[in-house]
Amino acid sequence: MVEPIASRFGAYTPASEVVEGIDLSGVTAIVTGAGSGIGVETARALALAGADVVLAVRRPDAAEAVAQEINAMGKGSVRTEQIDLSSFRSIRALAARWGERSLNILINNAGGGIIRPFLEHDAASLRATVDRNLWTALWACHKALPGMVRRNYGRIINIGSVTSVAGYAGLGPYGASRGGVRQLTMSLADDWGPHGITVNCLAPGWFKTTQNKVMYEDKEWVAYLTDRIPVKRPGQPDDLDSAVVFLAAESSRYITGQTLLVDGGISTGAVRALPKKS
Ligand SMILES: NC(=O)c1ccc[n+]([C@@H]2O[C@H](COP(=O)([O-])OP(=O)(O)OC[C@H]3O[C@@H](n4cnc5c(N)ncnc54)[C@H](OP(=O)(O)O)[C@@H]3O)[C@@H](O)[C@H]2O)c1
Repeated sequence: MVEPIASRFGAYTPASEVVEGIDLSGVTAIVTGAGSGIGVETARALALAGADVVLAVRRPDAAEAVAQEINAMGKGSVRTEQIDLSSFRSIRALAARWGERSLNILINNAGGGIIRPFLEHDAASLRATVDRNLWTALWACHKALPGMVRRNYGRIINIGSVTSVAGYAGLGPYGASRGGVRQLTMSLADDWGPHGITVNCLAPGWFKTTQNKVMYEDKEWVAYLTDRIPVKRPGQPDDLDSAVVFLAAESSRYITGQTLLVDGGISTGAVRALPKKS
């Protein structure tokens, strides 16, 4: 359960319900890793803006609840597709089914970090981290782009991380893969800008999702983290809604190659210069 956040809309209103003015009806968006956390919320936000949403998940049963919820909204359509992003063949098969249709928006969200001292990784876990976070995005872009080029229109949003732009102890391999996602974003933006395709990186800070559930059970660590975040709380998946819908909009056509940090300000450095008053 999310903590209440003061808002002019009441004690707590999901951000996706207050993203206004952007109409995504008639466009199809694929969200990878849409069975949990940020992926679920992203799919919900795009659907609320009217998009037809494809939930690309490893285990279709994981997306059942969000598919039902989106259906109940009565806006755009929703479909679930099974995909294993660690398999090029699986991505190619999905692209063959969807690439020729009106895929307009690709959200490369699937991935995940391992927090571990660098020397405690073995070759397999180093490899797996980069595969899970960088190769998945590379392959998905490679397969989604030809259809977008043919249609002369596309929006690619790569989910990066605050580790795309800053270093954190224990997150070296993850940060390296996320830095790669940011670089990929800039280069593809340059490649495909002439074809009406924008490519941006949306970089969450420290969000409270299942992937880092154990960390958030450690009260001392949460207090340490919260103290360093200017808005004084960890992120929650719907904090990304307005940014996702904004970057996915047709009207964001002149914004490309950018990394948008949605991190409560932690990337500012956030070190207290004044002594704490008791
Ligand atoms: N939470 C944060 O603080 C934070 C911060 C910055 C960036 N991010 C990034 O945001 C994205 C979403 O993370 P989250 O926090 O929402 O965590 P999450 O709930 O663990 O979501 C990650 C999703 O990626 C899917 N996935 C992983 N490998 C896959 C593969 N090979 N094929 C298909 N799906 C795969 C997972 O599916 P399964 O359930 O089948 O494993 C899961 O649904 C991740 O890329 C993460 O690195 C998160």
